[in-house]
Formats: sequence, structure tokens, C-alpha cells
Amino acid sequence: MKLSPLAQRLARMDQFRDASWTVLAENVPVWPAVPPVPTMQWTDGDNAYGPSQGTAELLDALALRGRAQGAALGPESLLVTNGGFDALALITRRLHTRGIRRVICAGPVLSSVVGLFESIGVEPVVLAWDDLFTGERWRGLGCGATDAFYLNTPHNPTGACLAEDVAKQLLADQQRFGFQLILDLVYDSFCFQDGCSGSPLAWVGNWQGVYAFNSFSKSYGAPGLRVGWLMAEPAVIPQLTAQFEMERIAVSTTAQTKAAALCALGNRSLVDAVRRGRKLVLDWAAAERIEIAAGHGGTQLWVDLQVGDSERFADLLMERERVVVTTGANYHPVQPRYIRLPTGLDTATLTSGLEAIERVRRGAGAADLTFSGSAVR
Ligand SMILES: Cc1ncc(COP(=O)(O)O)c(C=O)c1O
Repeated sequence: MKLSPLAQRLARMDQFRDASWTVLAENVPVWPAVPPVPTMQWTDGDNAYGPSQGTAELLDALALRGRAQGAALGPESLLVTNGGFDALALITRRLHTRGIRRVICAGPVLSSVVGLFESIGVEPVVLAWDDLFTGERWRGLGCGATDAFYLNTPHNPTGACLAEDVAKQLLADQQRFGFQLILDLVYDSFCFQDGCSGSPLAWVGNWQGVYAFNSFSKSYGAPGLRVGWLMAEPAVIPQLTAQFEMERIAVSTTAQTKAAALCALGNRSLVDAVRRGRKLVLDWAAAERIEIAAGHGGTQLWVDLQVGDSERFADLLMERERVVVTTGANYHPVQPRYIRLPTGLDTATLTSGLEAIERVRRGAGAADLTFSGSAVR
């Protein structure tokens, strides 16, 4: 098992701490002004365990958030986790014990997610998003009781959102054929297409066999809090909570207090910042005659910079400009020509990063194509 290509690049950067780096590798949006979350004291929670399911304050805030999206959710449908991936790991292991053998994924998908499924002996079947959802192609897969779907919408990296008619059809099939459905909604605040929704939760009529999760990492720009939440039918939550207690006991109470404050505050200025960054990147691409198939949402744009192998290009960026990006090597199947450009960074960082990319694009001659000192092994 290896660190992801993204983590490997960041580790390489860390070896040269004295250099001045521009990090475009993460797609975490940055608040234009620090959000006013409470300053915590020792006795606000660091001195005690919190409840395993989550603090009442945060569960109530999350139920309210879900209901505002039209979802049938109460605190009894929720479990607070250590971020989104923690929720996915809990769901994955539960499905394994219930005999799931295949997980259909709308791809490309983060290679760490594929690795997670493989680690429990489940076969991941990754089909391109459009292939899967055009003409209800998923039906040809004959999904039933030993299958699950993993669906990330808005989709990292393409930004695709699930259309209402497709979501309703998929949910109807899920009830009819008995497959399990995992909805990864960690980008649900970032949908920029009129008539399109970032979250399909309003269309979940029956939660049986449906699992969803979300996180403060992207929608609230706070990945360091390590607070996420899992949504499932109420009967399942005590079982998952017992599993959670066995392994982590509880999420940090102070982190949950800050998360509840962020939830109450809302994230409008963060979403607006991503909208501005998206326009900046799209305008830059248009000026450079780079075609971008901008998806409906997300906190990144998925770009073929027309430089051939994006891995070599990313190495050149590190060497020549001290800029770190995430490439198609982070996904399954590997997308060798693609780079992920974040849209939620502050304007100055984004602009200087794009300028550096342009300098390397112009300067990358034939000799560079044989560059062999890749940061990623
Ligand atoms: C598609 C997707 N799902 C889940 C996560 C997990 O987020 P976290 O565990 O930081 O909440 C990420 C983070 O990058 C992601 O891109």
C-alpha cells in the first residue's frame, strides 16, 4: 500500500520547506474571511468524552440542514464521524458483512476509494459517469442484493451532478432490485448550474439500503476539524454507532461545537468564493484556448492542459515553479492527461499558480518529455 500521488507530492514538497511553494493540490475552498467559530476552552470538551453518536447540538444542526434540503432526516438518522472517509469506511465494512460483493462506481473515482473497496475483498466496477447514466445503462449490469452503488455527486473530479430524473430512477431501482446505494455528498454546497441540484436527498423516499455521508471538509472549508456525518435509516444508526464506539469512542467535542457553529453560520461566502474562482479559471482557459468541459459543480475544474503526460508536467511544475498540483494519477482509472485545478483558492494564489502553469506550458519542449525525476512513485 502506498500514499496517494497527492500525498506523495506534498511529502516531496515538505523535503524542501525553505522554498516558497504554491499549493494548488487540494480542492479545499478557502474562506474569504475567517469564519467566527467559538474559541474553545479546555473544559468545553477536551477534558471529557462526548457521546458516540454525536453531540445533541450538532445532530440537531445537521438534521435541520438536511431538512432544509428537503430530506426526511431527524437526529435519529445521523451519526457524526471523523470526516467523510470515516463514514465511508464504516458503511463499506457494514456492506461487506452483509454479503456485498461488487460496488459499481461512477468514475473516474479517487483511487483511495477503490483501494478501500478492494481492501475488504469487494470488486469495484468503475464506469465513466456519462456511460453509466446515459440511457439507464446501469440497468444492464443486473444489480441486485449482492451489489452496491457508490455515487459521488457533485462529482470529484468532473463536477457532474445527478439529474433529478436519473436520481429518481436509480432510487426506484434500488428499492425494486435491492442493491445498496452509497451517496457521497461532500461537495453538496457547490452546484453552479441552474435547474440542477447538488444533493439528491430530497428524492430519497425510503432510506432502507440507502447510505449517505457528508463532511465539513469541503462544504465548510474545514478539513482539519475531521468532522463528517453519516445518514441512514434510523434502525441502522445504533449498530453503526456501536461499531464507531468500539473503534473511536467519539469525535472531538470541541470540533463538533465548531462544526455546529459553522452549520448555523452557513457557507454563502465560501460558495461565492468558489464561484468566483471557477470563473477566473474558466476565463483563463478560454484566453489560453484550453477547452474545459466544466461540470455542474464541485470545487475544482478537471482539465486536459494539452501537455501530454500530466505526471511529467506536474513534475516540471514542482521543479521549475515550485507549484504542486493533483493529477489524473490520483484517480481510477488513471487519467494520464488530466490535472485538477482548484477553484476555491484566494484570487492571488490562483492567479500566480495559473501564471506558473502557463510559463511551464510554453516552456515545455521535447527534451522535457523525457524528464524522469517524478515525485510520484
Ligand atoms: C469525493 C470525496 N469523498 C470524500 C472525501 C473525504 O473527505 P473528508 O474525509 O476529508 O471529510 C473527499 C475528500 O477529498 C472527496 O473528494
